[in-house]
Amino acid sequence: MIRPVRAADAPRLVELLAQLGYPAGHEAVTRRLAVVLASATQQVLVAADESRLAGYVGVERRPALLHRDEHAEITGLVVDAAARRAGLGRTLVRAAEQWAARHGLPAIVVRSNVVRPESHPFYEGLGYLRTSTSHSYFKDLTAGAGRRRWAAGP
Ligand SMILES: CC(C)(COP(=O)(O)OP(=O)(O)OC[C@H]1O[C@@H](n2cnc3c(N)ncnc32)[C@H](O)[C@@H]1OP(=O)(O)O)[C@@H](O)C(=O)NCCC(=O)NCCS
Repeated sequence: MIRPVRAADAPRLVELLAQLGYPAGHEAVTRRLAVVLASATQQVLVAADESRLAGYVGVERRPALLHRDEHAEITGLVVDAAARRAGLGRTLVRAAEQWAARHGLPAIVVRSNVVRPESHPFYEGLGYLRTSTSHSYFKDLTAGAGRRRWAAGP
């Protein structure tokens, strides 16, 4: 069954995020989940039977100015290593696409790291076209460092 995530799913999400390569503690995942649960523009859908979550997909609304109208983006997808190749990943992506369609969004994008070899034939098999390869950058805004040439505007 595919259903929206619940706060009680946090412990299992901790395990799935670790499989995705993003280890995070229970407290951090609970805090992030609370933001998702309160959001009208984000959804996390889980694949669950009575006892266990076997995977999740995150999807969100993305306003855009440049080359695309407002669209949906898949922000995370993982299927438990023990449950792969049984169609769950496909089912989760289809559920994310349906969420996007229900929200009137005409397209969906996903970024997948080149170090995830299985994800590329997976998405291509679901009709996704590879559009670009890019680098990601990160900056910690709490450190107070960083050279400023321009003063920030009002
Ligand atoms: C990518 C991932 C979500 C696929 O989930 P899954 O449940 O195993 O996928 P499905 O069973 O729905 O596979 C659908 C199709 O995708 C393709 N596919 C899936 N895994 C594949 C693999 N390892 N190698 C090649 N093709 C693959 C196949 O065409 C498959 O159809 P088939 O089994 O009938 O041949 C899963 O491997 C995973 O969680 N990987 C680690 C995290 C990750 O890469 N997430 C995506 C980053 S955004």
